[in-house]
Amino acid sequence: MIKAIAGTKDILPEEIRNWTLLEELVRKVMRAYNYEEIRTPVFEETRLFSRGIGESADIVSKEMYTFTDRSGTSVTLKPEMTASVARALLEHSLDKRQRLNKLFYISPMFRQERPQAGRLRQFHQFGAEALGSVNPTLDAEMILIAYGVLEKLGLKNLSIKINSLGVPSSREKYNTTLKNYLSSKFEYLSEESKKRFDTNVLRIFDSKKENDQKIMEDAPRLLEHLDDESLEHFEKVKQILLSAKVPFQVDSALVRGLDYYTHTTFEILSGSVGAQSALCGGGRYDLLVERLGGRNVPGVGFAAGIERILLACENEGVLEIQDKKIDLYIVRLDKDEKLEKKVFKLAQFFRASDISVEADYLSRSVKAQMREANKLNAKFVLMIGGEEYERGVTVLKSMETGEQKEIELSETEKIIGELQ
Ligand code: HAM
Repeated sequence: MIKAIAGTKDILPEEIRNWTLLEELVRKVMRAYNYEEIRTPVFEETRLFSRGIGESADIVSKEMYTFTDRSGTSVTLKPEMTASVARALLEHSLDKRQRLNKLFYISPMFRQERPQAGRLRQFHQFGAEALGSVNPTLDAEMILIAYGVLEKLGLKNLSIKINSLGVPSSREKYNTTLKNYLSSKFEYLSEESKKRFDTNVLRIFDSKKENDQKIMEDAPRLLEHLDDESLEHFEKVKQILLSAKVPFQVDSALVRGLDYYTHTTFEILSGSVGAQSALCGGGRYDLLVERLGGRNVPGVGFAAGIERILLACENEGVLEIQDKKIDLYIVRLDKDEKLEKKVFKLAQFFRASDISVEADYLSRSVKAQMREANKLNAKFVLMIGGEEYERGVTVLKSMETGEQKEIELSETEKIIGELQ
Protein backbone atom coordinates (compact mmCIF):
# COMPACT_ATOMS: atom_id res chain seq x y z
CA MET A 1 0.00 0.00 0.00
CA ILE A 2 1.24 3.50 -0.78
CA LYS A 3 1.46 5.58 2.40
CA ALA A 4 2.06 9.25 3.17
CA ILE A 5 5.76 10.13 3.40
CA ALA A 6 7.30 10.00 6.89
CA GLY A 7 7.00 13.38 8.57
CA THR A 8 3.92 14.38 6.55
CA LYS A 9 0.38 14.04 7.85
CA ASP A 10 -3.14 13.79 6.52
CA ILE A 11 -5.43 16.12 8.36
CA LEU A 12 -8.67 14.17 8.58
CA PRO A 13 -12.19 15.63 8.73
CA GLU A 14 -12.47 15.10 12.49
CA GLU A 15 -9.28 17.14 13.00
CA ILE A 16 -10.11 19.86 10.51
CA ARG A 17 -12.61 21.51 12.84
CA ASN A 18 -9.85 22.46 15.29
CA TRP A 19 -7.68 23.71 12.43
CA THR A 20 -10.54 25.89 11.20
CA LEU A 21 -11.19 27.23 14.70
CA LEU A 22 -7.52 28.13 15.10
CA GLU A 23 -7.32 29.71 11.65
CA GLU A 24 -10.45 31.78 12.29
CA LEU A 25 -8.99 32.96 15.60
CA VAL A 26 -5.71 33.92 13.88
CA ARG A 27 -7.60 35.92 11.25
CA LYS A 28 -9.63 37.68 13.93
CA VAL A 29 -6.58 38.62 15.98
CA MET A 30 -4.67 39.75 12.87
CA ARG A 31 -7.63 41.94 11.89
CA ALA A 32 -7.61 43.50 15.35
CA TYR A 33 -3.94 44.47 14.87
CA ASN A 34 -4.54 45.51 11.23
CA TYR A 35 -2.36 42.87 9.52
CA GLU A 36 -3.27 41.88 5.96
CA GLU A 37 -2.89 38.40 4.54
CA ILE A 38 -0.16 37.52 2.04
CA ARG A 39 0.25 34.21 0.17
CA THR A 40 3.48 33.32 -1.59
CA PRO A 41 4.39 30.29 -3.74
CA VAL A 42 5.26 27.00 -2.08
CA PHE A 43 8.63 26.95 -3.84
CA GLU A 44 11.21 29.63 -4.52
CA GLU A 45 14.67 29.94 -5.98
CA THR A 46 17.06 28.21 -3.58
CA ARG A 47 19.33 31.27 -3.33
CA LEU A 48 16.51 33.26 -1.69
CA PHE A 49 16.77 31.05 1.38
CA SER A 50 20.53 30.49 1.37
CA ARG A 51 21.08 34.24 1.15
CA GLY A 52 18.16 35.23 3.40
CA ILE A 53 18.35 32.68 6.21
CA GLY A 54 22.15 32.22 5.94
CA GLU A 55 24.34 29.35 4.69
CA SER A 56 25.43 28.39 8.18
CA ALA A 57 21.89 27.87 9.51
CA ASP A 58 20.89 24.20 9.92
CA ILE A 59 17.69 24.91 8.01
CA VAL A 60 19.74 25.83 4.94
CA SER A 61 22.70 23.47 5.28
CA LYS A 62 20.78 20.33 6.33
CA GLU A 63 17.05 20.60 6.05
CA MET A 64 15.93 22.14 2.78
CA TYR A 65 13.96 20.23 0.15
CA THR A 66 15.98 21.36 -2.82
CA PHE A 67 15.85 20.07 -6.38
CA THR A 68 16.76 21.17 -9.86
CA ASP A 69 13.72 21.64 -12.04
CA ARG A 70 13.54 20.78 -15.75
CA SER A 71 14.92 24.19 -16.74
CA GLY A 72 18.00 23.68 -14.57
CA THR A 73 16.97 26.14 -11.85
CA SER A 74 17.64 25.13 -8.25
CA VAL A 75 14.36 25.48 -6.38
CA THR A 76 13.45 24.85 -2.73
CA LEU A 77 10.17 24.16 -0.95
CA LYS A 78 9.85 27.04 1.47
CA PRO A 79 11.22 26.17 4.93
CA GLU A 80 9.90 29.45 6.37
CA MET A 81 8.07 32.57 5.21
CA THR A 82 10.12 35.57 6.25
CA ALA A 83 12.50 35.44 3.28
CA SER A 84 9.57 34.93 0.89
CA VAL A 85 7.65 37.87 2.36
CA ALA A 86 10.75 40.08 2.06
CA ARG A 87 11.16 38.98 -1.57
CA ALA A 88 7.50 39.69 -2.36
CA LEU A 89 7.77 43.12 -0.72
CA LEU A 90 10.74 44.00 -2.91
CA GLU A 91 9.37 42.44 -6.09
CA HIS A 92 6.10 44.38 -5.86
CA SER A 93 7.62 47.51 -4.26
CA LEU A 94 5.12 47.27 -1.42
CA ASP A 95 7.41 49.51 0.63
CA LYS A 96 6.94 52.29 -1.91
CA ARG A 97 3.16 52.09 -1.72
CA GLN A 98 3.16 52.45 2.06
CA ARG A 99 5.99 52.91 4.51
CA LEU A 100 4.85 50.25 6.96
CA ASN A 101 3.55 46.93 5.65
CA LYS A 102 1.87 44.70 8.23
CA LEU A 103 1.39 41.23 6.76
CA PHE A 104 0.29 37.82 8.04
CA TYR A 105 0.19 34.29 6.64
CA ILE A 106 -1.03 30.77 7.27
CA SER A 107 0.92 28.31 5.17
CA PRO A 108 2.62 24.91 4.91
CA MET A 109 6.42 24.81 5.34
CA PHE A 110 8.93 22.08 4.54
CA ARG A 111 12.03 20.98 6.42
CA GLN A 112 13.73 17.62 6.15
CA GLU A 113 14.18 17.07 9.86
CA ARG A 114 14.09 13.78 11.78
CA PRO A 115 10.36 13.28 12.38
CA GLN A 116 9.14 12.99 15.98
CA ALA A 117 6.22 14.26 18.06
CA GLY A 118 5.81 17.94 17.18
CA ARG A 119 8.45 17.78 14.44
CA LEU A 120 7.26 17.20 10.89
CA ARG A 121 8.68 17.53 7.41
CA GLN A 122 5.60 19.30 6.12
CA PHE A 123 4.18 21.45 8.90
CA HIS A 124 2.10 24.61 9.04
CA GLN A 125 2.82 28.02 10.43
CA PHE A 126 0.84 31.15 11.02
CA GLY A 127 2.88 34.26 11.41
CA ALA A 128 3.18 37.98 10.92
CA GLU A 129 5.81 40.33 9.53
CA ALA A 130 5.89 44.13 9.93
CA LEU A 131 8.24 45.73 7.44
CA GLY A 132 9.25 49.38 7.35
CA SER A 133 9.82 50.52 10.93
CA VAL A 134 12.48 50.20 13.62
CA ASN A 135 9.98 51.03 16.36
CA PRO A 136 10.39 48.61 19.32
CA THR A 137 6.62 48.78 19.85
CA LEU A 138 6.34 46.45 16.86
CA ASP A 139 8.72 43.93 18.45
CA ALA A 140 6.43 43.85 21.49
CA GLU A 141 3.36 43.76 19.25
CA MET A 142 4.58 40.50 17.69
CA ILE A 143 4.86 38.87 21.10
CA LEU A 144 1.43 40.22 22.06
CA ILE A 145 -0.19 38.84 18.89
CA ALA A 146 1.33 35.38 19.25
CA TYR A 147 0.73 35.18 22.99
CA GLY A 148 -2.79 36.55 22.49
CA VAL A 149 -3.71 33.73 20.10
CA LEU A 150 -2.27 31.07 22.43
CA GLU A 151 -4.05 32.54 25.47
CA LYS A 152 -7.37 32.83 23.65
CA LEU A 153 -7.13 29.14 22.80
CA GLY A 154 -7.06 28.54 26.53
CA LEU A 155 -3.44 27.33 26.76
CA LYS A 156 -1.95 27.71 30.23
CA ASN A 157 1.47 26.14 30.41
CA LEU A 158 3.26 28.92 28.47
CA SER A 159 6.49 30.84 28.92
CA ILE A 160 7.95 33.68 26.90
CA LYS A 161 11.70 34.04 26.49
CA ILE A 162 13.27 37.13 24.99
CA ASN A 163 16.80 38.19 24.16
CA SER A 164 18.65 40.74 22.07
CA LEU A 165 21.27 39.91 19.46
CA GLY A 166 22.11 43.57 18.93
CA VAL A 167 23.66 44.78 15.69
CA PRO A 168 26.41 43.07 13.63
CA SER A 169 29.20 45.39 14.81
CA SER A 170 28.72 44.62 18.52
CA ARG A 171 28.07 40.99 17.68
CA GLU A 172 31.34 40.68 15.79
CA LYS A 173 33.28 42.17 18.69
CA TYR A 174 31.50 39.80 21.04
CA ASN A 175 32.21 36.79 18.79
CA THR A 176 35.92 37.41 19.37
CA THR A 177 35.33 37.50 23.14
CA LEU A 178 33.36 34.24 22.95
CA LYS A 179 36.02 32.59 20.82
CA ASN A 180 38.71 33.66 23.31
CA TYR A 181 36.69 32.06 26.09
CA LEU A 182 36.16 28.86 24.08
CA SER A 183 39.66 28.47 22.68
CA SER A 184 41.04 26.86 25.86
CA LYS A 185 38.05 24.48 25.91
CA PHE A 186 37.94 23.80 22.18
CA GLU A 187 39.03 20.17 22.39
CA TYR A 188 36.14 19.37 24.77
CA LEU A 189 33.49 20.71 22.40
CA SER A 190 31.36 18.34 20.29
CA GLU A 191 32.25 17.94 16.60
CA GLU A 192 29.16 19.98 15.66
CA SER A 193 30.18 22.83 17.96
CA LYS A 194 33.76 22.74 16.70
CA LYS A 195 32.36 23.41 13.24
CA ARG A 196 30.14 26.18 14.56
CA PHE A 197 33.18 27.79 16.20
CA ASP A 198 34.19 28.91 12.71
CA THR A 199 30.86 29.29 10.94
CA ASN A 200 28.62 30.81 13.63
CA VAL A 201 30.08 30.64 17.12
CA LEU A 202 26.95 32.07 18.77
CA ARG A 203 24.94 29.00 17.77
CA ILE A 204 26.99 26.83 20.16
CA PHE A 205 24.53 28.11 22.79
CA ASP A 206 21.92 26.00 20.97
CA SER A 207 23.83 22.72 21.31
CA LYS A 208 21.86 19.90 22.90
CA LYS A 209 25.08 18.10 23.97
CA GLU A 210 25.45 18.06 27.74
CA ASN A 211 29.16 18.81 27.68
CA ASP A 212 28.72 21.77 25.33
CA GLN A 213 25.96 23.10 27.56
CA LYS A 214 28.20 22.87 30.63
CA ILE A 215 30.94 24.80 28.82
CA MET A 216 28.45 27.45 27.66
CA GLU A 217 27.00 27.97 31.15
CA ASP A 218 29.97 30.15 32.12
CA ALA A 219 30.47 31.71 28.67
CA PRO A 220 30.29 35.51 28.37
CA ARG A 221 26.86 36.59 27.10
CA LEU A 222 26.16 38.83 24.13
CA LEU A 223 23.59 40.72 26.19
CA GLU A 224 26.44 41.98 28.38
CA HIS A 225 28.37 43.21 25.34
CA LEU A 226 25.68 45.14 23.51
CA ASP A 227 26.13 48.73 22.32
CA ASP A 228 24.02 51.47 23.95
CA GLU A 229 21.57 51.76 21.06
CA SER A 230 20.79 48.03 21.14
CA LEU A 231 20.38 48.10 24.91
CA GLU A 232 18.00 51.03 24.64
CA HIS A 233 15.94 49.23 22.00
CA PHE A 234 15.76 46.10 24.17
CA GLU A 235 14.84 48.15 27.24
CA LYS A 236 11.89 49.71 25.37
CA VAL A 237 10.61 46.29 24.27
CA LYS A 238 10.73 45.07 27.86
CA GLN A 239 8.94 48.19 29.13
CA ILE A 240 6.08 47.74 26.66
CA LEU A 241 5.71 44.08 27.59
CA LEU A 242 5.71 44.96 31.27
CA SER A 243 3.04 47.61 30.76
CA ALA A 244 0.95 45.08 28.78
CA LYS A 245 1.32 42.70 31.75
CA VAL A 246 2.78 39.95 29.61
CA PRO A 247 4.96 37.58 31.64
CA PHE A 248 8.43 37.10 30.11
CA GLN A 249 11.93 36.03 31.02
CA VAL A 250 15.15 37.35 29.55
CA ASP A 251 17.21 34.41 28.30
CA SER A 252 20.67 35.54 27.21
CA ALA A 253 21.34 32.11 25.64
CA LEU A 254 18.40 32.36 23.20
CA VAL A 255 20.14 32.63 19.83
CA ARG A 256 17.55 31.18 17.35
CA GLY A 257 18.36 29.07 14.30
CA LEU A 258 18.15 31.67 11.54
CA ASP A 259 20.94 34.11 10.76
CA TYR A 260 18.92 37.19 9.82
CA TYR A 261 18.14 38.44 13.31
CA THR A 262 19.21 41.77 14.78
CA HIS A 263 18.06 43.18 18.15
CA THR A 264 15.06 41.37 19.65
CA THR A 265 14.57 37.60 19.44
CA PHE A 266 11.90 35.64 21.27
CA GLU A 267 10.26 32.26 21.68
CA ILE A 268 7.06 31.13 23.31
CA LEU A 269 7.37 27.67 24.84
CA SER A 270 4.83 25.21 26.13
CA GLY A 271 5.37 22.79 28.99
CA SER A 272 2.70 20.49 27.54
CA VAL A 273 4.26 19.14 24.35
CA GLY A 274 7.49 17.36 25.26
CA ALA A 275 10.89 18.01 23.70
CA GLN A 276 9.73 20.18 20.78
CA SER A 277 8.45 22.83 23.14
CA ALA A 278 8.77 25.99 21.01
CA LEU A 279 5.29 26.92 19.82
CA CYS A 280 6.47 30.16 18.32
CA GLY A 281 9.64 32.01 17.45
CA GLY A 282 10.50 35.37 16.01
CA GLY A 283 12.46 38.55 16.16
CA ARG A 284 13.72 41.63 14.38
CA TYR A 285 15.60 41.43 11.09
CA ASP A 286 16.60 44.96 10.11
CA LEU A 287 19.16 43.86 7.49
CA LEU A 288 17.35 41.02 5.70
CA VAL A 289 15.75 43.04 2.90
CA GLU A 290 19.07 44.73 2.17
CA ARG A 291 20.82 41.36 2.23
CA LEU A 292 18.43 40.22 -0.49
CA GLY A 293 19.68 43.05 -2.66
CA GLY A 294 16.95 45.47 -1.72
CA ARG A 295 16.47 48.76 -0.03
CA ASN A 296 16.93 49.44 3.65
CA VAL A 297 13.63 48.14 5.02
CA PRO A 298 13.78 47.04 8.67
CA GLY A 299 11.42 44.29 9.78
CA VAL A 300 10.20 42.22 12.69
CA GLY A 301 7.99 39.13 12.84
CA PHE A 302 7.16 35.74 14.25
CA ALA A 303 5.91 32.35 13.15
CA ALA A 304 4.04 29.75 15.19
CA GLY A 305 3.76 26.02 14.51
CA ILE A 306 0.12 24.99 14.12
CA GLU A 307 0.67 21.24 14.72
CA ARG A 308 2.54 21.93 17.95
CA ILE A 309 -0.14 24.35 19.14
CA LEU A 310 -2.92 21.84 18.44
CA LEU A 311 -0.88 19.16 20.23
CA ALA A 312 -0.58 21.46 23.25
CA CYS A 313 -4.35 22.07 23.10
CA GLU A 314 -4.99 18.33 23.01
CA ASN A 315 -2.64 17.64 25.90
CA GLU A 316 -4.14 20.42 28.01
CA GLY A 317 -7.69 19.38 27.12
CA VAL A 318 -8.63 22.76 25.66
CA LEU A 319 -10.33 23.29 22.29
CA GLU A 320 -12.16 19.96 22.66
CA ILE A 321 -13.34 18.59 19.35
CA GLN A 322 -16.97 19.56 19.13
CA ASP A 323 -19.61 17.14 17.97
CA LYS A 324 -20.56 17.45 14.38
CA LYS A 325 -24.07 18.87 13.93
CA ILE A 326 -26.33 19.27 10.93
CA ASP A 327 -29.61 21.16 10.85
CA LEU A 328 -31.82 18.69 9.06
CA TYR A 329 -31.96 15.09 7.89
CA ILE A 330 -34.65 14.22 5.35
CA VAL A 331 -35.93 10.69 5.86
CA ARG A 332 -37.59 9.11 2.85
CA LEU A 333 -40.32 6.74 3.96
CA ASP A 334 -40.74 4.91 0.60
CA LYS A 335 -38.15 3.79 -1.93
CA ASP A 336 -39.95 5.60 -4.70
CA GLU A 337 -38.03 7.38 -7.46
CA LYS A 338 -40.43 10.29 -7.63
CA LEU A 339 -40.05 10.75 -3.91
CA GLU A 340 -36.27 10.66 -4.24
CA LYS A 341 -36.46 13.56 -6.71
CA LYS A 342 -38.72 15.47 -4.31
CA VAL A 343 -36.26 14.91 -1.44
CA PHE A 344 -33.41 16.19 -3.60
CA LYS A 345 -35.40 19.28 -4.59
CA LEU A 346 -36.36 19.99 -0.99
CA ALA A 347 -32.77 19.56 0.18
CA GLN A 348 -31.60 22.05 -2.46
CA PHE A 349 -34.32 24.48 -1.41
CA PHE A 350 -33.21 24.41 2.25
CA ARG A 351 -29.49 24.51 1.40
CA ALA A 352 -30.10 27.72 -0.56
CA SER A 353 -31.16 29.23 2.79
CA ASP A 354 -27.87 28.09 4.42
CA ILE A 355 -29.49 25.20 6.25
CA SER A 356 -27.22 22.14 6.38
CA VAL A 357 -29.12 19.16 5.05
CA GLU A 358 -28.36 15.49 4.56
CA ALA A 359 -30.48 12.77 2.98
CA ASP A 360 -30.04 9.12 2.12
CA TYR A 361 -27.94 8.12 -0.88
CA LEU A 362 -27.68 4.42 -0.01
CA SER A 363 -31.32 3.22 -0.24
CA ARG A 364 -31.35 2.66 3.49
CA SER A 365 -34.36 1.49 5.47
CA VAL A 366 -36.31 4.09 7.46
CA LYS A 367 -34.75 2.73 10.67
CA ALA A 368 -31.24 3.02 9.22
CA GLN A 369 -31.95 6.57 8.02
CA MET A 370 -33.08 7.53 11.56
CA ARG A 371 -29.91 5.98 12.95
CA GLU A 372 -27.85 8.03 10.49
CA ALA A 373 -29.73 11.21 11.48
CA ASN A 374 -28.81 10.47 15.09
CA LYS A 375 -25.19 9.82 14.22
CA LEU A 376 -24.97 13.10 12.35
CA ASN A 377 -26.50 14.89 15.34
CA ALA A 378 -29.31 16.30 13.19
CA LYS A 379 -31.32 18.95 15.01
CA PHE A 380 -34.46 18.07 13.03
CA VAL A 381 -35.70 15.22 10.88
CA LEU A 382 -38.17 15.77 8.07
CA MET A 383 -40.12 12.63 7.19
CA ILE A 384 -41.50 12.50 3.76
CA GLY A 385 -43.59 9.72 2.13
CA GLY A 386 -46.39 7.34 2.97
CA GLU A 387 -49.96 8.30 3.70
CA GLU A 388 -48.96 11.84 4.79
CA TYR A 389 -47.33 12.55 1.46
CA GLU A 390 -50.56 11.56 -0.31
CA ARG A 391 -52.36 14.09 1.90
CA GLY A 392 -49.76 16.72 0.87
CA VAL A 393 -48.08 16.97 4.26
CA THR A 394 -44.71 16.15 5.76
CA VAL A 395 -43.71 15.51 9.38
CA LEU A 396 -41.02 17.60 11.07
CA LYS A 397 -39.52 16.09 14.21
CA SER A 398 -37.25 17.87 16.67
CA MET A 399 -34.51 15.45 17.70
CA GLU A 400 -33.92 17.43 20.87
CA THR A 401 -37.49 17.44 22.25
CA GLY A 402 -39.03 14.59 20.24
CA GLU A 403 -41.91 16.92 19.30
CA GLN A 404 -43.54 16.21 15.90
CA LYS A 405 -45.46 18.57 13.65
CA GLU A 406 -47.33 18.11 10.39
CA ILE A 407 -46.53 20.78 7.81
CA GLU A 408 -48.17 21.23 4.41
CA LEU A 409 -45.70 20.39 1.63
CA SER A 410 -46.81 23.54 -0.18
CA GLU A 411 -45.65 25.57 2.83
CA THR A 412 -42.02 24.62 2.94
CA GLU A 413 -41.06 28.19 3.90
CA LYS A 414 -42.71 27.42 7.23
CA ILE A 415 -40.21 24.63 7.76
CA ILE A 416 -37.36 27.09 7.31
CA GLY A 417 -38.97 29.22 10.01
CA GLU A 418 -39.08 26.20 12.34
CA LEU A 419 -35.44 25.38 11.67
CA GLN A 420 -34.01 28.82 12.22
P1 HAM B 1 11.28 28.99 13.47
O1 HAM B 1 11.65 29.10 14.91
O2 HAM B 1 12.20 28.24 12.59
O3 HAM B 1 11.10 30.46 12.96
O4 HAM B 1 9.83 28.35 13.34
C1 HAM B 1 8.74 28.89 14.01
C2 HAM B 1 7.87 27.78 14.62
O5 HAM B 1 7.52 26.84 13.61
C3 HAM B 1 8.55 26.94 15.67
O6 HAM B 1 8.50 27.57 16.93
C4 HAM B 1 7.72 25.68 15.65
O7 HAM B 1 6.53 25.83 16.42
C5 HAM B 1 7.35 25.56 14.19
N1 HAM B 1 8.21 24.57 13.53
C6 HAM B 1 9.45 24.74 13.05
N2 HAM B 1 9.94 23.61 12.52
C7 HAM B 1 8.97 22.68 12.66
C8 HAM B 1 8.85 21.30 12.31
N3 HAM B 1 9.82 20.65 11.67
N4 HAM B 1 7.70 20.65 12.61
C9 HAM B 1 6.69 21.29 13.25
N5 HAM B 1 6.75 22.60 13.60
C10 HAM B 1 7.86 23.29 13.31
C11 HAM B 1 10.77 30.80 11.67
O8 HAM B 1 10.32 30.03 10.85
C12 HAM B 1 10.90 32.29 11.39
N6 HAM B 1 10.50 32.52 9.98
C13 HAM B 1 10.08 33.09 12.35
C14 HAM B 1 10.12 34.56 12.09
C15 HAM B 1 9.23 35.28 11.40
N7 HAM B 1 11.09 35.39 12.45
C16 HAM B 1 10.81 36.60 12.02
N8 HAM B 1 9.67 36.55 11.36
